[in-house]
Amino acid sequence: MMQKKTALITGAGGNLGKVTVAHFLNRGWRVIASVSPGKSLTGLPNKDLHIYAIDLTDEHAVADWIQTVISEFRQVHAALLLAGGYQSGTIADTTTEDLRRMFMLNVETALNVVRPVFQHMEQNNSGRIIFIGAKPALDTKAAGKAIAYALAKAQLIKLTEFINAHGNEKQVAGYSLVPEIIDTPDNRVVMPQADYSKWIKPEKVAEIMLRLCNEEIIVTDTIVKLY
Ligand SMILES: NC(=O)c1ccc[n+]([C@@H]2O[C@H](COP(=O)([O-])OP(=O)(O)OC[C@H]3O[C@@H](n4cnc5c(N)ncnc54)[C@H](OP(=O)(O)O)[C@@H]3O)[C@@H](O)[C@H]2O)c1
Repeated sequence: MMQKKTALITGAGGNLGKVTVAHFLNRGWRVIASVSPGKSLTGLPNKDLHIYAIDLTDEHAVADWIQTVISEFRQVHAALLLAGGYQSGTIADTTTEDLRRMFMLNVETALNVVRPVFQHMEQNNSGRIIFIGAKPALDTKAAGKAIAYALAKAQLIKLTEFINAHGNEKQVAGYSLVPEIIDTPDNRVVMPQADYSKWIKPEKVAEIMLRLCNEEIIVTDTIVKLY
């Protein structure tokens, strides 16, 4: 029998996270899901789902968690770094506090996981790491209303390049998926007048991540625009 592959998914309790966890479980993966402290994941009973409550900004807690996961499950084949968040603000009204918050939420939560996971994947000569960027990180016009968010997401795209520069020869690949607006219940509440048919469905984003993780060879387009 073929060994199950293991995907570590952060932000698993979020809008994209819940759908992605279900998608990977339904396609035969084992899922290591991280949620915020005090939160859980309901409605997804599955023997292959292992839920951990971790504050991803706590680098020591994350390092301990990854060591536990590796000891227990031996190999992490894919890391999907979905934890993150949005903040609006033009250049004029973006404060240092906004910058720090966006950096912490989007970059630190990812880098704290990448630090041990990348090393683990290089040792195994195999691995896929997926970041979720956002259109303002690539499109300067779109960035104008969300400067701190755009700057933080741009760092993730840069981090993807660094991973590939060092990891590709060891069959470790990073990808940045770059959506504009995902069709989530939260976005529908915030933008009730919008045409939802133009928004990408979370199931589609999950399927793209699954394909990138299942691919034996490294896909050369590492920035995947979803708009
Ligand atoms: N939704 C969109 O339209 C859109 C567009 C472009 C990019 N993105 C990106 O796609 C990703 C997923 O979006 P989403 O809509 O699913 O967002 P979401 O519903 O807000 O989910 C993000 C998750 O990250 C978790 N999280 C945040 N800080 C954490 C921490 N310190 N430790 C542990 N967990 C933490 C949150 O947990 P708690 O809520 O419990 O704190 C939440 O479950 C994000 O990176 C987002 O920036 C989203």
